[in-house]
Amino acid sequence: MKLMPMRKLAVIHHRWTQWLPALQQAEPRLDIRGAHPREWESLDPAWLAETEGMFCWKLPEGLTGRMPKLAWVQNSGAGVDHLVNHPELSDHIPITRADGRFGFWMARYVCGHLLTEAQRVNECAKAQAAGLWNPKVIPEDLGGKSALVLGFGRIGRQIGKALRELGMDVTGIVYTPREDSEFNLRSSTDLGELLPTARCLVLAAPSTPLTRGLVNSALLSHGNPALTLINVGRGDLVNQVDLLAALDAGTLGHAVLDVFTEEPLPIESPLWHHPKVTVTPHHSGPSTPKDLIPDILENLRRFAEGHPVQYAVDRTRGY
Ligand code: GLV
Repeated sequence: MKLMPMRKLAVIHHRWTQWLPALQQAEPRLDIRGAHPREWESLDPAWLAETEGMFCWKLPEGLTGRMPKLAWVQNSGAGVDHLVNHPELSDHIPITRADGRFGFWMARYVCGHLLTEAQRVNECAKAQAAGLWNPKVIPEDLGGKSALVLGFGRIGRQIGKALRELGMDVTGIVYTPREDSEFNLRSSTDLGELLPTARCLVLAAPSTPLTRGLVNSALLSHGNPALTLINVGRGDLVNQVDLLAALDAGTLGHAVLDVFTEEPLPIESPLWHHPKVTVTPHHSGPSTPKDLIPDILENLRRFAEGHPVQYAVDRTRGY
């Protein structure tokens, strides 16, 4: 029997030393080498020229030009906007994504921030610091209040389930309305109608031509002072100037932002010190091998065995 030569997989990642052993253990039949994106040129050019698979996050300039046999790109996370729009990644190369257990992480993030408000955690801390017993600090009842979750795939649905456990009335906002036995789903074109009575709007959608700039002054003009916007999707879903104007005008009460158009968020950004903005460092869905490899495993096996990979993203849709 003729043995198939081991297929090669390049791991180009800022945490490649963590990913490489985990991927190798998951699929020992692959020849895997790795480098930091800034140091990819340290990889043997002859090896790269023969390499057909790549595991990466941000794709460094010039790399794919050295990989004429590249036949699969596995993203190390959920959002693939940086890859589908990459000028050097030719259209015929399948890109696959992985969202692992992001839904659980992000559900905790969303509930954590919302409960911080509802349980009035900051006011209690202030009262405690001043030695004040203040029974007037009553928690807010979230029961029956409206939570809108934009983007209702695996991640959005998990967030929806958690918000429902808090007693909220959850509506999934989607682009293509479909029947759903569990949740009320509405089209993104209905958002203006839903926002006046919403307690929170969670953005769990990818950055696509349809979602970019969706949260703008036109939409936010339908908001209300109790509305909290929580963005765990992508920074460019929100027009930042319009967001700040809505906070000042009172059509938005609080913005909890984990993602930004520029990351790290530049030090001069007005978001840092705005009293109605919470900034977190894109940490709502950590990418760890333990959480993500189960998603990638089937394609790793298919790749090792010479079969085409499955579940490639639709580049025109953007996810
Ligand atoms: C993180 O933002 C991801 O898309 O995985």
